[in-house]
Amino acid sequence: MFRAIFFLAIAPVALLVFAEPIHAGPKVDWEKINPSLKGATSSSSITGCLDCHEDYIKSFARTKHALYFKKTLGKSLVQSCEDCHGPTGTHAAEPDFDKKQSTTVSFKTITPQQKSQICLQCHEKQITLHWKGSVHEMANVSCDKCHYVMARKSKRQLSINEDSKKACFTCHADKRARMLRSAHMPLREGKMSCASCHNPHGSLAPNLLKAETTNQTCYICHQEKRGPMLWEHAPVREDCNNCHDSHGSNHLSMLKWKPPYLCQACHSNAGHPDSLNDGSGLPAFGGAGTFIVGKSCLNCHSRIHGSNHPSGARFMR
Ligand code: HEC
Ligand code: HEC
Ligand code: HEC
Ligand code: HEC
Ligand code: HEC
Ligand code: HEC
Ligand code: HEC
Ligand code: HEC
Ligand code: HEC
Ligand code: HEC
Repeated sequence: MFRAIFFLAIAPVALLVFAEPIHAGPKVDWEKINPSLKGATSSSSITGCLDCHEDYIKSFARTKHALYFKKTLGKSLVQSCEDCHGPTGTHAAEPDFDKKQSTTVSFKTITPQQKSQICLQCHEKQITLHWKGSVHEMANVSCDKCHYVMARKSKRQLSINEDSKKACFTCHADKRARMLRSAHMPLREGKMSCASCHNPHGSLAPNLLKAETTNQTCYICHQEKRGPMLWEHAPVREDCNNCHDSHGSNHLSMLKWKPPYLCQACHSNAGHPDSLNDGSGLPAFGGAGTFIVGKSCLNCHSRIHGSNHPSGARFMR
């Protein structure tokens, strides 16, 4: 009963609050960023600006920001500029062309934290909620390293590139190399992106992962590996990356090492005749060693992620 009341009465309100894009975030102190803006007033019209900034104004007018600000918030174009660049009255009135730049908040001169603070006025929520204190923020990465807001350079998300991975590769070149290895998830085919597993804006999990742990992240798409299984293989429940390299590898199924080496990193010969070199102790169908070539240990232990078969304790069925 109470639940029903919640969903009927409270949930729509809650949804509205979450769907509301403009959020009264921390305001920016423009004067602190640029003291020459002291006492600056807002400009009333964009007309005068066109003389010098026509290109930027036209390209900006086609972005999601401009469209949303105009349609939904009823803001004029010049008011929009001022959301990110501060009041422009002093700038417009400045007669000396050479002093024009010093009378605005220019993204060429402010610090990475100041840049992000400007965006966070409206965006410190949902996907960017954990930006503050995130690895990227601490490493002086700012929003404009991945987003471009003055023109539409991509169909979605104001990305600096249609292919959002390219922004990541400017700093994480090693990951591009790994993605090019023979076994990989379909990133280079464009069916996934780095953001399928990571939230580059910060997260509560280690490694900027989208879900709480590595495994929870993998289960987003590989639900069938979630279990619980009747017979669990301990390293699978612990961390998929005990055996896989999420960014790509040159072994079958993105394995870190080739079996039997992979398995023998944890399993000794004791209790099981799994000697790598002669295979003499393995059941003698087809002669020594036959079963550790090809799929190796997996020839017999094929249910390596766990088994639901009553006699699957050895992951053979
Ligand atoms: C959503 C925030 C935002 C809004 C709104 C905005 N700008 Fe910008 N502007 C930026 C950022 C960020 C940059 C830096 C772009 C870059 O080079 O990465 C920039 C750069 C510029 C530049 C300099 C480009 C260069 O590098 O030479 C001009 C000029 C400019 N903006 C004018 C305007 C005008 C005029 C408006 C209003 C029509 C406006 N901006 C609205 C964020 C904004
Ligand atoms: C007489 C020419 C002129 C006029 C008119 C003018 N500006 Fe500028 N503006 C400049 C110059 C020059 C710069 C510094 C060079 C640059 O960054 O592109 C500049 C820089 C800016 C920047 C900072 C861009 C950045 O990130 O470096 C913004 C924002 C801006 N102007 C907005 C406006 C707005 C809004 C108006 C109208 C109210 C306006 N300007 C009118 C010449 C002008
Ligand atoms: C005045 C408030 C405001 C400021 C400041 C602002 N944004 Fe936005 N931003 C919005 C709104 C409103 C939307 C569109 C509504 C939505 O999708 O939530 C939006 C959408 C976006 C999107 C998604 C676009 C898409 O195609 O889905 C990105 C990315 C973005 N903003 C980045 C930035 C960056 C980077 C900055 C700083 C340079 C910035 N924003 C500054 C209000 C703002
Ligand atoms: C390291 C690169 C990177 C940085 C830095 C970055 N973003 Fe993003 N941003 C992305 C990617 C990638 C996406 C697409 C995410 C997805 O598809 O799930 C995105 C998406 C967004 C969206 C759209 C979310 C939606 O629901 O559609 C907004 C808004 C946004 N970013 C704002 C910001 C703001 C504000 C900052 C700075 C505080 C910032 N971003 C910094 C890479 C970045
Ligand atoms: C299938 C999920 C997945 C995808 C897609 C993915 N990652 Fe990761 N990433 C992980 C996991 C899981 C970790 C945790 C570290 C580990 O155990 O390897 C990680 C760790 C990282 C790290 C920190 C540790 C290290 O190895 O340096 C960086 C940087 C990173 N990823 C960047 C990227 C970039 C860039 C892309 C896009 C090309 C990407 N990742 C795509 C899952 C993924
Ligand atoms: C401007 C450079 C830059 C860009 C662009 C960038 N990163 Fe990073 N990233 C860093 C730096 C610096 C670190 C700090 C890690 C370090 O010390 O090596 C980092 C760390 C990470 C980590 C590891 C976090 C941890 O907890 O250790 C992940 C994951 C990551 N980035 C993913 C991404 C993804 C995904 C993208 C693209 C959407 C991206 N990065 C774009 C510079 C960048
Ligand atoms: C956004 C969805 C998504 C997420 C999250 C994801 N995967 Fe995948 N994964 C895929 C897709 C799609 C394929 C390709 C499947 C196919 O080709 O049939 C794949 C394939 C694989 C393969 C087989 C690769 C090969 O070469 O045969 C492995 C192993 C794998 N994923 C492991 C992981 C691990 C480990 C994680 C967590 C770190 C993870 N996946 C997270 C979508 C995802
Ligand atoms: C003990 C090592 C090990 C661990 C831990 C492990 N895997 Fe695997 N995984 C393998 C092996 C070996 C293969 C190749 C199986 C084959 O070819 O029969 C494989 C294949 C895969 C494949 C592709 C074939 C298929 O079964 O769909 C996916 C997807 C996959 N693993 C996902 C995961 C996920 C998700 C996790 C974490 C929940 C995980 N793996 C943990 C060893 C492991
Ligand atoms: C990261 C370490 C690790 C790796 C790698 C690993 N295992 Fe395991 N495996 C374990 C642990 C721990 C157990 C549970 C042992 C126990 O319960 O006594 C286990 C259990 C098993 C069992 C069930 C036997 C029993 O005693 O319950 C089989 C069969 C098995 N592993 C085969 C493999 C094969 C085949 C591979 C390679 C594809 C492999 N394992 C890779 C750690 C690992
Ligand atoms: C020809 C099939 C076959 C191959 C190949 C094979 N195994 Fe086994 N394995 C078995 C059988 C059968 C058992 C069950 C033995 C028992 O129950 O006493 C077993 C049991 C195990 C056990 C459990 C041992 C115990 O203490 O009960 C582990 C661990 C194991 N195998 C790992 C491996 C590894 C690692 C490889 C690859 C080097 C491998 N196996 C290759 C058939 C095979």
